[in-house]
Amino acid sequence: MKARIKDLLRRVMGINNARFLGMSMARIRSYKSLAFNFWTDFRLYCKESTIFKKDSYRKIEALIILDYHRIEKGLLFESMKPRFAMVSIVALHVYLNKEMVIAAKSRTQIKVAYQLMCQYYDLHQRAGIYIGDYYTNEQYVFYKNILGEEYSNDFQGAIKYSFDSFYRFNEADFKCFSNSRKSIRNFTGEKVNEVLIRDAVQLAMNAPSVCNRQSAKVYLVEDKVKIDKILEIQGGFRGYTEQVGQLLILTTDRNYFYTIGERNQLYIDGGIFLMNLLYALHYYKIANCPANWGKTVQEEEVLSKYIFLPNSEKIICMVPIGVANPEFSVCLSRRRDIDEVFISL
Ligand SMILES: Cc1cc2nc3c(=O)[nH]c(=O)nc-3n(C[C@H](O)[C@H](O)[C@H](O)COP(=O)(O)O)c2cc1C
Repeated sequence: MKARIKDLLRRVMGINNARFLGMSMARIRSYKSLAFNFWTDFRLYCKESTIFKKDSYRKIEALIILDYHRIEKGLLFESMKPRFAMVSIVALHVYLNKEMVIAAKSRTQIKVAYQLMCQYYDLHQRAGIYIGDYYTNEQYVFYKNILGEEYSNDFQGAIKYSFDSFYRFNEADFKCFSNSRKSIRNFTGEKVNEVLIRDAVQLAMNAPSVCNRQSAKVYLVEDKVKIDKILEIQGGFRGYTEQVGQLLILTTDRNYFYTIGERNQLYIDGGIFLMNLLYALHYYKIANCPANWGKTVQEEEVLSKYIFLPNSEKIICMVPIGVANPEFSVCLSRRRDIDEVFISL
């Protein structure tokens, strides 16, 4: 066993024989426990996530949300791009025809998927755009029947705002303030004053963190060439990048975590900081949308060509920021019913 651990340490951590011999048993036990914990995380992620299997209701629901959200995002453009999100429509046909999905039609996320499919068809019909090669009238009628009384041609997957109506609650009580925060993807292209961004980051720093260790950092990128390269790698902001002139990169620093049990704490503290940052930006009327950095190490290597970040830091999220247009739309992003989330045991 000792030989196997030794070999593993040599190969994975670059720890040679001499260093290994000098190590205390307690240290060796820690390496072993860390490896075991990461291995267990690895196994659970393989088994329970949607990478390899797409066979349970919750896995299918996740894929449905992913694809319906692409339709919502396509609805944000002032003039509709004909036949937008075609790949998502094709994927949704497969999921939305599954019996287990039809049986769950009253669940929020399934219902909104059927509603978006109907809105998509109605919009193309009204605009006289042919989509029959990937979305037939028969399919549309089928979805409409599933919705029954829940179908309405007033349904909107995107909500329109004026600048003033969007920010009318930014200094209201927390309930109104929180209900009014939404991701904005369309900016004027004008730059937000750096002093205001600093104020927002300062406010976000009220975020609690484990033992107050405050591992978060926020970088501001304003070089448009770099922003475009970074967002190209990011990939989830396609179609909206043109007007992005400022990008925040939120990281947390591994130096601040000291136990094996804390191996995921950097993501937790980073997530808490992110939420506070989004609220702080909203408070200061800085339009923003989190842009996920759920990336592989290979993608992070490509990123390092454009931006230097210390190895100890993990990117939690990117946040394109800007000034909102006088009129703009945001995604509906329907939330679940409380009973889907709050369970009393
Ligand atoms: C960690 C994280 C990553 C996200 N990544 C993206 C992204 O890559 N592209 C995008 O358009 N929206 C992204 N979003 C925005 C979500 O789509 C949005 O928060 C969600 O639909 C809820 O809508 P709301 O923020 O308007 O309430 C992300 C949100 C979070 C929290």
